[in-house]
Formats: sequence, C-alpha cells, structure tokens
Amino acid sequence: MSGQNAWSEKYRPKTLDDVQGQEEVIKLLKSSLDSGLPNLLFFGPPGSGKTTSILAVAHELFQGYFKERVLELNASNQRGIEMVRTTLKNYAMQDVTHYDGIPDYKLIILDESDALTPDAQTALRRMMEDFTKNTRFCLICNYISRILPPISSRCIKFRFSALPKEIVSNRLQMICEKEGFSVTNEAIQAVSILSEGDLRYGIGLLQKLSQGINHSVTPQDISNVAGVVPSKEITEIIHLCQNGSVNDLYLKAMSLVVEQNYSADSILSQLRDVYIEDCVNLTNQERCLFLQLIAQSDATLIDKTDPLFSICALLCSLFKFYHKLTLNP
Ligand SMILES: Nc1ncnc2c1ncn2[C@@H]1O[C@H](COP(=O)(O)OP(=O)(O)O)[C@@H](O)[C@H]1O
Ligand SMILES: [Mg+2]
Repeated sequence: MSGQNAWSEKYRPKTLDDVQGQEEVIKLLKSSLDSGLPNLLFFGPPGSGKTTSILAVAHELFQGYFKERVLELNASNQRGIEMVRTTLKNYAMQDVTHYDGIPDYKLIILDESDALTPDAQTALRRMMEDFTKNTRFCLICNYISRILPPISSRCIKFRFSALPKEIVSNRLQMICEKEGFSVTNEAIQAVSILSEGDLRYGIGLLQKLSQGINHSVTPQDISNVAGVVPSKEITEIIHLCQNGSVNDLYLKAMSLVVEQNYSADSILSQLRDVYIEDCVNLTNQERCLFLQLIAQSDATLIDKTDPLFSICALLCSLFKFYHKLTLNP
C-alpha cells in the first residue's frame, strides 16, 4: 500500500517527540540541532523512523518554507554520478532567500544513499565541502558500511534500531482504534512478530488485512496476506534436501518462487527460523553452517540475483551438506 491513502503515511509522526522507540537517537538529534543543523547520516533497518525523523526536523526548521528549502531524493532510482552532478548540484548551487526566523540554508535529504556508486559518493563529498555555506545534507541508508569514510566522517551519525515488538504492537493497536478496525490482540501480536521491527511493513500488513476481510482476522488470514510460506512447504524443502533428487529441488523452487510467487526473503527467513529453533536435530556446527548458507543467499538477493537462482543455489548447498559432499566447489 503506497500513496496518500496509506495508513503508514497517515500515521507518520509529525514531530520528533512523537517518534517511538528511538529515545537515544532523538535526544542526541535534538541536542545537535541546538547549534544549527550539521550534516547528518541516519542509518538503520527499514521502517524504524529515519525518514520520519528528518522530515520532522525539516518541518520544525523551515515551517511554511519547507517546499522551498527541502529537496528529497532517492538514490536508488538514480545511482550514478550524473544525478549528483546535475540534480543535486543545481539545487545546492541555488542561493537562499532570507526569511526572518528561518535558517539561511536548504536541506538535501538523500534516501538510500548507500545505493550511490563510489564515484557518485566522491562527487557528493566534494559538494558537501563546496556548499557548506547554504546547504546541509541528510544521508539516509540501511548499511553504513557502504558509505565511504570521507563522507561519513563529515556527518554526525545516528544509528536507528529495529523497533521492539511492544512498540510495534502498541502503535498498531492505536492505529486500529483510530481506524475503527477491530482485530484480536492475537492478530496484533502476530503482525508485530512478522514485522521484525519494521513498522512500515506492519502498518501496511494491517491495512491490507482491513481491506479484504470482513470476518474476524484469523492467523491463516495474516499468513495469507503476509505471503508466509506454509510450514509444510518448509518441512518438505528440508525433506527433499535430505532425500530427494536435485531435480525435485529445482521443481520445488520453481513451484514456490515462480508458480506460487512466494518471496525468496520469506523462504529464507522461515528456513532460518527452523534452524535457529533447531526443530531438525542438528549439531551446533551444522546449525552454524546452515545459517551461514542462508546469510550468503540473502546477500545474493540484496545484490539483485534472480530469486529463483538464489533459492536453487541454497537448496543445492543444503543438498550437498546432507549428502556429505564438500561445500567448497
Ligand atoms: N519510530 C517510529 N515511530 C512511529 N512511527 C514510525 C516509526 N518508524 C516508522 N514509523 C511508521 O512507519 C512509516 C515509515 O517510517 P520511515 O520513517 O519512513 O522509515 P525508514 O526508517 O525506512 O525511513 C512511518 O510513516 C510511520 O507510520
Ligand atoms: Mg526512509
């Protein structure tokens, strides 16, 4: 669910004081604002309040001049140096009109800045130096390790944490009450667990549930809407890795990823849970190895490998393990 009707937008906190569960970050942010806005780098998992916090800061600083003083860009759409040299630079070069009570600088919010190529980051660093007089930057990303040190060292860094389950469930509860959507506490808890600290995801799931369903929400409804892979499929994957053929594995991956359109992320996180909870009688060493393989597979997905290939490769590694083949090709 996106756009203006999205509950996640409707219930986006407007002020820093309304941002939940990030007390340390908010305290630090407020105190660093006292002496004028520095360049900022916000990092942390999705749906934890990064964009919300900088928008709240910007509204407080620029009030009615927000549109004129703030440029929001998403680096994942235009990853390259051209975007930095054109869109960003043109905006940064512009002079600012003085208004009483409004700071004499503008703000560039660069979301998903870890998607910028190293070249683009280098150009960005130069701009941060050249335009310090009337431009501030807020870089937002999930992984700080992908930001070049010359950039991160020019920013004050704020680490956002995945929101605790209780914060997520309280917020979901509040939204349900305001929307007149009645769900059981069990449903709220189930959505909170699935959210894994990502409130945008949790709110989106809740809104989807509120749409298609006119009887009371069951755990099965939540699983369906969230695209949770049925646990019998997960059990069968493990069974096939132990006793099936490579062809069976391929057909299973095809069926889940292509025909039934389950997300590779869900398959990975559910396999991960099986191995973390150790429902399958493994030794500690075996569990470590499996979790490593799942993490590697997750990394390939982040690098935009085809999900079918990622899942096939993981299942083949598990197959090799169960058949006592060496894992290093
Ligand atoms: N800390 C939070 N407190 C309250 N609501 C939040 C918080 N974090 C996220 N949300 C909700 O999730 C939505 C997306 O949050 P956002 O700040 O855009 O996440 P991100 O960290 O990915 O930038 C917000 O519009 C809001 O509804
Ligand atoms: Mg964001």
